[in-house]
Amino acid sequence: MENTGFEFMEILQVKNLIKTFDGIHAVDSLSFDIKKGTITALIGPNGSGKTTTFNLITGFLKPTAGKTSFKGRDITHMAPTKSLISASGGHSRRSDYSRR
Ligand SMILES: Nc1ncnc2c1ncn2[C@@H]1O[C@H](COP(=O)(O)OP(=O)(O)OP(=O)(O)O)[C@@H](O)[C@H]1O
Ligand SMILES: [Mg+2]
Repeated sequence: MENTGFEFMEILQVKNLIKTFDGIHAVDSLSFDIKKGTITALIGPNGSGKTTTFNLITGFLKPTAGKTSFKGRDITHMAPTKSLISASGGHSRRSDYSRR
């Protein structure tokens, strides 16, 4: 297959993501890039912040600091119902979802 370069684009980017719960550092300055077409696992001991990381990326939690991007678009402050739909160029919008 011809390599157009597109196959290697970073589809998901996480940069210096931080989440604290009342002083507990659940996620502490996490950064990674996921390339299109790859399968990536997030592993770690109980309480190391895996679920919190997914909730931050999907928008169910607000990060204390840091940035998440999908297909080059900043989705850090998007609600769950917006983030991936919006980044995909869809039209669905909902703004009544509250996060903490
Ligand atoms: N809503 C919350 N309020 C307060 N602390 C929380 C909250 N959610 C997670 N934490 C704390 O953040 C840390 C990371 O938790 P998280 O659930 O993300 O870990 P995990 O890697 O998914 O663990 P497990 O393997 O048990 O599923 C833990 O210390 C946890 O107690
Ligand atoms: Mg978990």
